[in-house]
Amino acid sequence: MTKLRLPFSAPLSVLLVASAALAAGAWRSMPAAPLAASTPRLESQGDEASPIGEQMETMNAAMRFFLKTGATAENRATALEWVGKFQAAIVTSKGLTPPSAAKVEAGARAEFEAGYRRMLVDVLAATCRLEAAVLDSKYDEANRIAREELTKLKKAGHDKYEEE
Ligand code: HEM
Repeated sequence: MTKLRLPFSAPLSVLLVASAALAAGAWRSMPAAPLAASTPRLESQGDEASPIGEQMETMNAAMRFFLKTGATAENRATALEWVGKFQAAIVTSKGLTPPSAAKVEAGARAEFEAGYRRMLVDVLAATCRLEAAVLDSKYDEANRIAREELTKLKKAGHDKYEEE
């Protein structure tokens, strides 16, 4: 039998192990395959933002502006922009049905849904007072409305209408 001629004296088994190791190394350094195409991300499995949730995120961003930055003479235009976004999100939210309504017995559902809408009318009214305060250059009053009135309404709304 003809003997396999190797360029150097390493036994064949050593070469095989070395080449396997090199191949494994090359595989590891390859860019990651685009998993997302075939594997659904966890967040998209029943955890997507609901239509109300999306509007509430906008409301929350507006609240963050008034609670953290606060309306001032210098940022008046930005403050008014946030009020506008806040109000648009409230108007959209009050036209939607909260998912929690599905768990209310049929006879009480209309009242439950009206209560949800009514509370958002109070939120809208508070943002109108906040807007008037900014327009009147009463920035402390505008920020107080966010800090006291809107924060209270948010808690009351969630206690009653947000699902656990
Ligand atoms: C300043 C006022 C408010 C702010 C900033 C606010 C903010 C939020 C936020 C951040 C969420 C979570 C959204 C998500 O799932 O990503 C949420 C959910 C929710 N909020 Fe509000 N909220 C406010 C007032 C209210 C009021 C007054 C009500 C009811 C009358 C209400 C009803 C709900 C409901 C039902 C959900 C759950 C939505 C769903 O799971 O589809 N919120 N809110």
